[in-house]
Formats: sequence, structure tokens, C-alpha cells
Amino acid sequence: MQQHIFITRRIPEPGIRALEGKGYNVTVSGKDGVLTKEELIVALKGKSYDAVLCLLTDKIDDAVFEAAGAQCKIFANYAVGFDNINLDAAKQRGMTVTNTPGVLTNTVAEHTFALILAAAHRIAEADAYTRAGNYKGWAPMLLLGSDVSGKTLGVVGLGRIGSRVAHHAAKGFGMKVLYYDPKPNAEFEKEYGARYVDLPTLLKESDFISIHVPLLPATKYLIGTNEFAMMKKTAYLVNTSRGPIVDEQALVRALKEGMIKGAALDVYENEPSLAPGLADLPNAVLTPHIASATEETRGKMAELAALNIIEALEGRVPPNKL
Ligand code: DGY
Repeated sequence: MQQHIFITRRIPEPGIRALEGKGYNVTVSGKDGVLTKEELIVALKGKSYDAVLCLLTDKIDDAVFEAAGAQCKIFANYAVGFDNINLDAAKQRGMTVTNTPGVLTNTVAEHTFALILAAAHRIAEADAYTRAGNYKGWAPMLLLGSDVSGKTLGVVGLGRIGSRVAHHAAKGFGMKVLYYDPKPNAEFEKEYGARYVDLPTLLKESDFISIHVPLLPATKYLIGTNEFAMMKKTAYLVNTSRGPIVDEQALVRALKEGMIKGAALDVYENEPSLAPGLADLPNAVLTPHIASATEETRGKMAELAALNIIEALEGRVPPNKL
């Protein structure tokens, strides 16, 4: 019997080709945008899909699982992060949930480093200045930034992406690396000369602080007013993980009041909205949740999400089962 897959929004072709190549009937949501939870429920109810390929912008809770029905075996998230999915509800219903780790590690680490360099060298500000016709000639004090080489990077969360950012920092820029994680990693310390510290020490000693933890109840607002108060006045905060890990209003105050020197963000507390005042700050570099957005990586994410579905529908344990 032919199996039916629902994809909540158009994804890169390699994923769709992989599913169609298996002979599945693939339906992609016709809406040009994020489905609300109500729209998602309507899209799934009574349709007997065998699998759903969903995105980090879809809020998947028990009502959505119920709408998908007992025939549905898997929700394959097209993202490494899965804070948009209620895993407890999935477990209760015996629903398999998967994510797409690994394939985006390099790309997100590159974007993180692009943000570090952009913040330190004031790239966004300088670009806007030049385009506005303000460049009237070389000047000794024009748009002075900060060096990155030889400084200290504090990595909060030493998973795949945090480790790769540390690699670029240590090997590419001769940076000292501090890291904070639930457990130390002796091999990593040896390879990169890194030092395992608690969060307050990392905040006090780092010149650049880069966040790489998942969003969990324990990591929500991990960085707020108290943490900004511990940072150097010359420090930069970079976040490419999930927005709510940083108290964004506290960040705006810290940037305005000079508690830290700058920030570079790819993720926001209430996406796609920004905290009031954030967009007006010249010492903030802002990108729209695109850290994994290269042609190559988004294609691989689509393929991996499709592979997880194929494995589940063929009765095997998908490689990225959560
Ligand atoms: C993820 O995969 O979780 C990223 O945020 C998507 O870019």
C-alpha cells in the first residue's frame, strides 16, 4: 500500500526526491509560510499520513500528534534543535521523533565565526556607513574594532557545534579556549589547550562568549542581567543556538549601558520579533536564523530528515531517533 508523507513547508529538493524515490506520495503544505498550530491540525486530521516532516517553526504538541492519528509513525524534524516538539507527549503515544544532527555542524560553526568576526570588526556598521555615502577618506580613528586573534573564547556547551567553533578559534586564530559543559572532556582539552571552568569563571574571563547549549527548562535565560554584570566591559556575546537562552531585554540594556561591548545573534527570544531597541543598536550584529542556511547543508538536512522517515517506515530504527 502506498505511504503518504506530509511536509509542513517546502524544503530543498533532495529530501523530496528521496521520499518520492521510495514511491511515497508526498504532500507539501501549500501555504507560503509557517502553519499555525490550528492549521497544522486541520492539515493532518483524518488524512492518515504515515509520516510528517516538520520544521523548527512548527509547534508540535499532543494535539498535533492526536490529529496525525495512530497511522502516523514518525515526526522528522528538519533541524538539530527540537525544543519545538513535546517529546514527553511523543513518548506517551509511541511516536518516533528525529532530528538532523551532524550535517550542519560545520556550517553553523562557520556562521558563528562569521558573527564573531563581524562583531569585532564592526562589519555590518561599516557596510551601512559605506553604502550611506559617509566614507570621505581613510582616517586613523575610523570605526575602530577589536582583534580576535589571541583573545579568549568562552564556549558555553561543548557539543558538536561548540567543539567545532573552539577548533576554529584555537587552530585558526590562536585563541585561548575556556568551556563550560555538564562534563569535562580531557581529549578536547589536550587537543585545543582548553580549560574547563564554571559559568561565572567563563563569563568573567572570556573576550568572546559563544552559546551552544540546547533550549531546555534549565537553559532558559541562562544569560541575563546577573551574567552580563560578570562579563568584561569589552566582551562580545554570540548566540547561534536558541534565542530564549538569552534574556533579550537584559541584553538590550547591557548593550545600551556598555556592560558589554557587543553582541552577534542569529536567534531571538520571540522569533521573528526582536526585543524593543535591539535593531537600533549599532553594537549588535543580527542575522535571521540562517546559521545552517547554505545550499549544501540545507540539502543534507532535507536528505537526513527523509532518511529518518524512510528508515522508520521500513521498520528500522531511524539513525537520529531522539
Ligand atoms: C537547527 O537545526 O536547530 C538550526 O537552528 C536550524 O538552522
